[in-house]
Amino acid sequence: MCGIVGAVAERNVVEILLEGLKRLEYRGYDSAGVALLSPNGDFSRVRRTGKVQALADAITSENGVGSTGIAHTRWATHGGVTENNAHPHTSSDRIAVVHNGIIENFGELRTELRDKGYTISTDTDTETIAHTVHSLLDTNDTLLAAVQEAVTKFSGAYGTVIMDREDPSRVIVARSGSPLVIGLGVGENFIASDQMALLPVTRRFIFLEEGDVAEITRREVNIFDVDGHPVVRDIVESTVEHDAGDKAGYRHYMLKEIYEQPTVVRNALAGRVSLEGLTPDIFGENAETLLRDVKHVQIIACGTSYHAGMTARYWLEQYANVSCNVEIASEFRYRKSVVHPNSLLVTISQSGETADTLAALRLAQELGYMSSLTICNVAGSSLVRESDMAFMTKAGAEIGVASTKAFTTQLGAFLMLTLALGQHNGMSDEARDDILNGLQSLPSKLEETLSLAAEIEDLAEEFADKHHSLFLGRGEQYPIAMEGALKLKEISYIHAEAYASGELKHGPLALIDDEMPVIVVAPNNELLEKLKSNVEEVRARGGIMYVFADKDTAFESDETMRVINVPQCAESVAPIIYTIPLQLLSYYVALIKGTDVDQPRNLAKSVTVE
Ligand code: G6P
Repeated sequence: MCGIVGAVAERNVVEILLEGLKRLEYRGYDSAGVALLSPNGDFSRVRRTGKVQALADAITSENGVGSTGIAHTRWATHGGVTENNAHPHTSSDRIAVVHNGIIENFGELRTELRDKGYTISTDTDTETIAHTVHSLLDTNDTLLAAVQEAVTKFSGAYGTVIMDREDPSRVIVARSGSPLVIGLGVGENFIASDQMALLPVTRRFIFLEEGDVAEITRREVNIFDVDGHPVVRDIVESTVEHDAGDKAGYRHYMLKEIYEQPTVVRNALAGRVSLEGLTPDIFGENAETLLRDVKHVQIIACGTSYHAGMTARYWLEQYANVSCNVEIASEFRYRKSVVHPNSLLVTISQSGETADTLAALRLAQELGYMSSLTICNVAGSSLVRESDMAFMTKAGAEIGVASTKAFTTQLGAFLMLTLALGQHNGMSDEARDDILNGLQSLPSKLEETLSLAAEIEDLAEEFADKHHSLFLGRGEQYPIAMEGALKLKEISYIHAEAYASGELKHGPLALIDDEMPVIVVAPNNELLEKLKSNVEEVRARGGIMYVFADKDTAFESDETMRVINVPQCAESVAPIIYTIPLQLLSYYVALIKGTDVDQPRNLAKSVTVE
């Protein structure tokens, strides 16, 4: 979603800002812009719809000079994708603003601002920030004070950076609901919505907290909390790889991330679990005490992370004897729900910044859960900071919008949580051994599964001209079918729906014909015979099937069914293994269709607005 980069330096910052925007491209956007200020007050602003490269191409030696600057990639919410709606927005040629989030009371603010004589010239909510700050400069001595007063007038979410043409020595930043991180340099300082943007210039970061307003100059960073009191926030040395944004020779980030899975899963398990069991305290110092009495788990997430939660429900109930509900965050946050006794709240998120998941956590904290755990990939993110316990998935930076390695590491984390809760709830030795053995061999099984790539690339040819598809699974493979369908629609734009195969005859059978490929996820488990009956139901109606199955299932290819043999594995880890061929299938279909694999249209990596 939208991205912010800003800098206050002695040197020209335009290249730093453009490089920062390029490093944020993965988040999804549809226009980009930059505003620059020279020490003598010369101001320029360049905006373009489309890619950051279009913006870079429009920068010249005249309009591309400034030692203070702000830049933005916009993912349209209020107002269409036009140059006029692209950030930075200005007020009276003095104030320039970039903003992530949504100012929900922009309508009332516009009316007030018009009454004060301001002309509203864009369709955006952001423009009201620029005019509001400008209008408060008369009654405040400093830009900082004007911004501190302005934020009291905003409702909604913002991460915003504000620049004043009459004072090129500083920018003022404010955070409420949308993350901002300050990057500390030597004689220069930076601001961004994501540390990825600033890794070429610094590794030292301060993550702003909710309600913080900060003043950034070349040599100083002064932070004020929500009550306006000066505060000191910790400086964090980043551990994110500088080149995490490189494709490492792969054609797309998504393919690189698919192939990284054996390695990142190995890293995520290392030191945490062995054939003997779990290492103590992997969920945090007090986790032993907090988890001991858990009798129910409520999982909240969005998108792919929600599918990880759906899979975990099967594991927690089947292996750990702990009841579990899973809900989409945007639903949970707007309904009244009943909290079960001894209930643990678990949020799952790659980014740790998804607005709905964060709002659901905050709501749940008032509802009486025993404690909260987040399973997350980004250290220092809002979910990590606001949860009682945080378990890092260690997948490394995920750039492709369609989530792959984050998902498989989330599933690994859930198997560890299953072990942790199971030990207090009568988990059988057989179940424990299946999970421990499964996790032990998981990285090598993932490697083996990736060798199916050539076969799947070949199969993708048959898909590329289709408009619809159906994914079927049963039990813990049903959410994997859902994840397979999500991947296909996200990056190839083919309509894909997932069904629990027992539901076939309650509707979707009506859709079956030879134009509707049916993908079946069929590991060798106790539901196999039931699944085979469902396959026959499709075959009897002339459907064309693609079956991903263990060779012991005895599925055989014929003219209406193509069988792809997936390596045999422990039952507990089968959902993780069967994810891989479905990721590869969507990747190769998208490749043939020529869609934008890493930045699919209309989608964003991190959804920081509702
Ligand atoms: C967006 C992304 C998805 C992701 C979802 C939840 O829709 O495109 O890939 O699954 O957000 O994000 P989270 O960071 O909370 O896992």
